[in-house]
Amino acid sequence: MVKYQVREIDDGVWLLRLDDDRTGFFEAAWSIPEGITYNSYLLRAPDGFVLIDTWKGAYSEQFIDALREVVDPRRITHVVVNHAEPDHTGGIPAVIREAGGPKIVVHPSGGRVLRAKYGELGEVVKVEGTKRITISGEEFLVAHVPWVHWPETVFTYQPSRRILYTCDVFGSYSIPGGYLADPSDPSYLRSAEKYLVTVMGHYREHVLRAVEKVRSLGVSISRVAPSHGGVWEGDPEVPMKLFEDFARGTPRLGGVALAYVTMYGSVEGAVSMLNGELIKRGISVSSFAANDVDRGSPEDFMTRANAASAVVLATPTYDSEVHPRMEYLLYLIRSKMKGTGKPVAAMVSYAWGSNAAKRVENALREADLRILGVESFRERPTPEQVAGIADAVAEAERGRSISPG
Ligand code: FEO
Repeated sequence: MVKYQVREIDDGVWLLRLDDDRTGFFEAAWSIPEGITYNSYLLRAPDGFVLIDTWKGAYSEQFIDALREVVDPRRITHVVVNHAEPDHTGGIPAVIREAGGPKIVVHPSGGRVLRAKYGELGEVVKVEGTKRITISGEEFLVAHVPWVHWPETVFTYQPSRRILYTCDVFGSYSIPGGYLADPSDPSYLRSAEKYLVTVMGHYREHVLRAVEKVRSLGVSISRVAPSHGGVWEGDPEVPMKLFEDFARGTPRLGGVALAYVTMYGSVEGAVSMLNGELIKRGISVSSFAANDVDRGSPEDFMTRANAASAVVLATPTYDSEVHPRMEYLLYLIRSKMKGTGKPVAAMVSYAWGSNAAKRVENALREADLRILGVESFRERPTPEQVAGIADAVAEAERGRSISPG
């Protein structure tokens, strides 16, 4: 059941959090049985109240209810838009109505998107570059961090509370029990990595730039407050290093992420042979299968692959091409894993003849991954083909264990 919470996390700083367990597919793409939160922050300033981000529009009524638990909305003087995507701005029309025309603080390109979606915004304060700005009598530092993951995104820093508000970056899927992000909880880290890979995997280099941007601000940070998931309290280097690892596809967990499609069992047989060889070499395998009873979870595979030492794909040929389920994974890999240089091998089965192996290899090249080998086989691979892949994967795993850090 969708519910919200209002919590004062620092003197005059309230987290307004909507816990959304109703959205099954975030961005109409990513299966999220773990749910998601939308975090807005309400700040008491010398001349009134300032809002940073809102919630998804479907929850505007609850958003106004949450606001009223702290303040009469008419005392809100400004809404800072860190990111114009509707999961954070959907509540703006209701706030404009209830607050009687607060000023909207937004990057100019974000302002254009908001006007196109919501109509007239009233008075707009444009923010560009990196600059100090006084909002409702309080000083803030606003820094433009483009492409995380839209071009208009800004981070907002509140010096008086040493809080950095970052919208999507440092955010996560899941509905944490408390309000804090827990870096010692593997399941939370998995949800955060899943969020990074699925939503921002296409923009990895920009995530790395955004983290560097935070360091370059040279400010003291006590909390990093994203607009999804938990608030990071304490050393800001903890989330910054984690998200650098996520963005680089660092083999944090090691092992192999293996995705395969099998229609009548020949690919499954090949995968079983490979599993045996990998086990002999002491390599753990996380398998994701699409078959005639289960479509598998592309987002779970992509998340595990991001943290793995190597990836293996196995697919049958279908209509002389790659099976459509694997074709989708290849799209995800090209779009969301590009630039990681992740080691990857593939096995392709065929019955009559096939362009599929070439197609797989070309897709992996487009993704700039490190290709360990692409083996095609009729019904059953040779032991030598399988051992060759297992050896190459073992070498990738060894490379991880001797990498610095
Ligand atoms: Fe959570 Fe890019 O919006």
